[in-house]
Amino acid sequence: MSTVTSFLDIQGITVRFGGLTAVNKLSFQVQQGSIHALIGPNGAGKSTTFNCISRYYQPTEGCIVLDGQNITHWHPDRMAGVGVARTFQNLELFGELSVYENVLLGCHAHSANTLARLFSRPSAQTREWVDSLIERVGLSHDRDTRANELDFGHQKLLEIARALALKPRLLLLDEPAAGLRNRDIENLDRLLTELSQRDGITVLLVEHVMQLVMSISDCITVMSFGEKIAEGTPKEVRDNPQVIEAYLGKGATRA
Ligand SMILES: Nc1ncnc2c1ncn2[C@@H]1O[C@H](COP(=O)(O)OP(=O)(O)OP(=O)(O)O)[C@@H](O)[C@H]1O
Ligand SMILES: [Mg+2]
Repeated sequence: MSTVTSFLDIQGITVRFGGLTAVNKLSFQVQQGSIHALIGPNGAGKSTTFNCISRYYQPTEGCIVLDGQNITHWHPDRMAGVGVARTFQNLELFGELSVYENVLLGCHAHSANTLARLFSRPSAQTREWVDSLIERVGLSHDRDTRANELDFGHQKLLEIARALALKPRLLLLDEPAAGLRNRDIENLDRLLTELSQRDGITVLLVEHVMQLVMSISDCITVMSFGEKIAEGTPKEVRDNPQVIEAYLGKGATRA
């Protein structure tokens, strides 16, 4: 039997905000090159978990191991260097800058002197790379549009393009489909599948749009009140009574 080593190993992390335990002894593993979804009702602790992986929050207990390295106490600035890129639930774009400039900034996330590099002329190779990413997420028509003039869904796509500019090995996406129209969700489905299957990028996403989660995920971890309540393939998770109960409340499974 072949042994599959996990690329990201979350080992019993706990996060507390004052008296509230947002994440409670959570463990799960993400396989290299897979699409792994983290789902659960509002307030389950999904974004908090993301913030631990990208190192914005410090778990009070547990370990985070990435590609064999214990990153639990790393500074967030080190994460780009090991190929971890993320998008945010509430967008972190430069609203006054164009789509092109936002993606260009993503290319420089490794660099200490981001602004100086933005205002120096990028090489032809960098410009082509940025344009190819903009095309990949379907924003070519808006290349020179200011980020804050895009609708929310397209801003989410822009965030993905900017994250890809880092050439990540692990892409963390917090609700990428929120605000997207059906056609854009289909494009996102195709894009994420391609990133995983063709580019070998490991994708961990938090998402409420079940149509997308069920279509693209290799594995789904379900959280409720900070804890893992289920895990498995889309089919296994969909048929799990505990999951149905977490979403719809007690008694739902008897209906
Ligand atoms: N910085 C913070 N300070 C205090 N409480 C927080 C903080 N961040 C999150 N929480 C609380 O921790 C719990 C988990 O929040 P989190 O944002 O991780 O949930 P989520 O699963 O991402 O929910 P949603 O689907 O609504 O985005 C919630 O009760 C939330 O109010
Ligand atoms: Mg969230």
